[in-house]
Amino acid sequence: MVSTKQEKQVVSRRRVADHGEVYTSKREVNAMLDLVKSETERIDSRFLEPACGTGNFLTEILERKLRVVEARYGKSQLDYERYAILAVSSIYGIDIQEDNVQQCRQRLFGIFDLNYLRLFKNKTNDNCRESVRYILERNIIHGDALSLKTMGDNPKPIVFSEWSPVNGSMLKRRDFTFHGLLEHAAIKELPLFSDLGEDVFIPTPEKEYPLSHFLEVADVDKH
Ligand SMILES: C[S@@+](CC[C@H](N)C(=O)[O-])C[C@H]1O[C@@H](n2cnc3c(N)ncnc32)[C@H](O)[C@@H]1O
Repeated sequence: MVSTKQEKQVVSRRRVADHGEVYTSKREVNAMLDLVKSETERIDSRFLEPACGTGNFLTEILERKLRVVEARYGKSQLDYERYAILAVSSIYGIDIQEDNVQQCRQRLFGIFDLNYLRLFKNKTNDNCRESVRYILERNIIHGDALSLKTMGDNPKPIVFSEWSPVNGSMLKRRDFTFHGLLEHAAIKELPLFSDLGEDVFIPTPEKEYPLSHFLEVADVDKH
């Protein structure tokens, strides 16, 4: 039995009873992800885990994607940053427990930062870290995947941001409500956000943002 903190599959009996909180072990995570191996190694393939816990699946997906980013773009810092941010921005999660959401974001950030520092040492750029933090803040949501609302005193519809690369270094952000995406996908029986060439339902965004440089995505909230 594995006994490291990260591999602990149960936090407490209360949390198991209240939230069904039993984590998937690394071995099982890898076996399941291997069923869709090519997708886990496609830098921009989008994954959503609606009960992500502390991120056992999402962290492994990010590790896999970043290995591909390093193999292809590890020699150029700008390209590495651009594609690493794309990898991060394609990973989404929801959890009903706030501490899990925080931990999930921290684990994902830690994986990015560890690799970034290992490759580029004192040449790393804090703007890049800030973009990664900002995207994780938006993509990993403290919410209820059943009510489709955020948690907290003032629940609001869950909104996901789609991040699409444009002309190399620019990112286009469009926000969609989760319920809008699910409703229309169910009616049309078409996949969401598919980039594999099949027919897709094209949803209407709640909000569109001007293009921003991938190192400046966080600036939108500063104005
Ligand atoms: C069985 S654990 C699985 C965690 C992770 N997916 C894994 O496999 O390691 C279930 C997680 O779902 C969360 N959860 C339970 N009900 C939820 C809901 N309605 N919406 C979002 N998350 C929920 C719990 O907080 C817990 O972290």
